[in-house]
Amino acid sequence: MSDAAFTPRVFSGIQPSGDLHLGNYLGALKRFAEAQDKGVQSLYCMVDLHAITVWQEPEKLRHATRELTAGFIASGLDPEKSILFNQSQVPEHTQLAWIFNCVARMGWMKRMTQFKDKAGKNAENASLGLFGYPALMAADILIYHATHVPVGEDQKQHIELTRDIAAKFNHDYGVEFFPMAEPVIEGAATRVMSLRDGSKKMSKSDPSDMSRINMTDDADTISKKIRKAKTDPEPLPMGLDGLEGRPEARNLVNIYAGLAGMSAEEVMREMGGKPFSEFKPILADLAVARMAPISEEMGRLMQDVGEIDAILARGSERARDIAAPILARTYEIVGMVGR
Ligand code: TYM
Repeated sequence: MSDAAFTPRVFSGIQPSGDLHLGNYLGALKRFAEAQDKGVQSLYCMVDLHAITVWQEPEKLRHATRELTAGFIASGLDPEKSILFNQSQVPEHTQLAWIFNCVARMGWMKRMTQFKDKAGKNAENASLGLFGYPALMAADILIYHATHVPVGEDQKQHIELTRDIAAKFNHDYGVEFFPMAEPVIEGAATRVMSLRDGSKKMSKSDPSDMSRINMTDDADTISKKIRKAKTDPEPLPMGLDGLEGRPEARNLVNIYAGLAGMSAEEVMREMGGKPFSEFKPILADLAVARMAPISEEMGRLMQDVGEIDAILARGSERARDIAAPILARTYEIVGMVGR
């Protein structure tokens, strides 16, 4: 393998750690599906090893891994075109992560905001896995020499760390072996906020179910959540500038833009001046039209978990075919003696 041949390749991952929500759909899945036919090899991973950095009930983890796979397929990912697999079945991820544990510095890890958020006040009690998480994430990406990583805005810092790890490895060993993977953060909805509080990210860990639209919600629930979303009393302004200081209104505009495949400017041209009593029902209808069929398709796919498991098994084999030679070369560079 030549050390500096970086063919464009896409990698991204989602944790099977509970309900998928509209943020995951607009920030990740929808964009993965749209990029599918651009002719670039793409790998999408159910990152089950990341999920266990905080406690997961084994039965729930199994269910969430299958449901996430169903979510990918229902969102339009074709397992023939893209490689869909679960992380634990490709041991090269953790093997490379160990090397990266020895490259990354404690200080770099301590700066990661996701660790600080998830560990909360009691960092001493967080798992070592949660602390080392970004090194495993770097390995997820670099074990495939991936060049592009489509993610929501919250993952940007982790991709920057991935670049730091790649650069330090290349520098320390005097090689050009790992690429500088680019985060791809595009579109109006790369940071979908809570429907109850426009200053908080929409997240599966929010205790209020009304704060998010789950990808398994039915049409009535989706509609109810949009209609009850927090807003201010003013109508929508005539232009984007008028959304300054109105995070809830801004969020609903971004959600509309993401669902409709428009820019926020285009949404304002159509919707500017409307009161929420008019805008919300239009948004609710759009959300139902886009999300309810996905939810139904996920339910249908979940009736045959054997088929889902077979898709993951096949995807893992294809992923290993790419990962194994990259790990072997990494070991050689590092000085491991082997065959
Ligand atoms: P995770 O599982 O939290 O989220 C999966 C994807 O959904 C995006 N996302 C959002 N986008 C917009 N608005 C939101 N409210 C929102 N919430 C989540 C995330 O940005 C992400 O793209 N560390 C990653 C998983 C991971 C990974 C990787 C990603 C592990 N290895 C390698 C890329 C490459 C995570 O926890 O994502």
